[in-house]
Amino acid sequence: MNSLADPKISGLLKQLQNEAAGDAERWAKRSVQQQQNPSGVDSLIRMGEFYLGVSTAEGRLLYMLARSSNATQIIEFGASYGISTLYLGAAARDNGGSLITTEVHPDKCKATRKLIDEAGLAEHVTLLEGDALETLKNLIDNVNMLFLDGWKGLYLPMLKLIRPHLRPGSLVVADNVDHQAAQPYVEAIQAEDSGFVTATLGDMELSCWSG
Ligand SMILES: C[S@@+](CC[C@H](N)C(=O)[O-])C[C@H]1O[C@@H](n2cnc3c(N)ncnc32)[C@H](O)[C@@H]1O
Repeated sequence: MNSLADPKISGLLKQLQNEAAGDAERWAKRSVQQQQNPSGVDSLIRMGEFYLGVSTAEGRLLYMLARSSNATQIIEFGASYGISTLYLGAAARDNGGSLITTEVHPDKCKATRKLIDEAGLAEHVTLLEGDALETLKNLIDNVNMLFLDGWKGLYLPMLKLIRPHLRPGSLVVADNVDHQAAQPYVEAIQAEDSGFVTATLGDMELSCWSG
């Protein structure tokens, strides 16, 4: 049985996707505040009010990419409440590997740790709490999949941090690359001499490190 068919994991994913669906309503309720203080939008997100999770299709795509490339050392930048963490953690378990995920918001860390335990993924998933640029500094070698979904302006610094640890053929998936703040990352990875083969699919950039 693949881990996405594990009733514990599929049940938790269903529950989380239901809760995440409330993001739109929470956002609408905040619209007045946003209009009054547009620069406050970012800080609202930072407060941890929103799930900002991947969709079911995106999550399944992450699972399939990790499984089909037999990724055994996966890194995630930005766990939030753990939706993508469950998909990648399920793939790590099915590949006999591990996922290191990262999150800076303390409440989200607490909730995601509990989720990892409830999903039965604790043996395969480690959550590092704090700024990922710091917590991932002493990284092990041989990363073969990287998922970027934290603050978009940090995608390029994260790539620079992890790139020396990528094995040739490794996948890098970046979500929401249509955001303005992700443009330095997009330009860098799409550059002819970047060493990556890359494609934009919707708002995701899929890249393969060719070494
Ligand atoms: C878009 S959400 C992640 C959604 C998650 N991947 C999912 O699909 O459920 C982005 C998350 O990245 C976290 N984050 C932003 N900057 C970070 C940093 N420097 N280190 C660790 N986490 C960070 C935020 O707190 C936020 O929860």
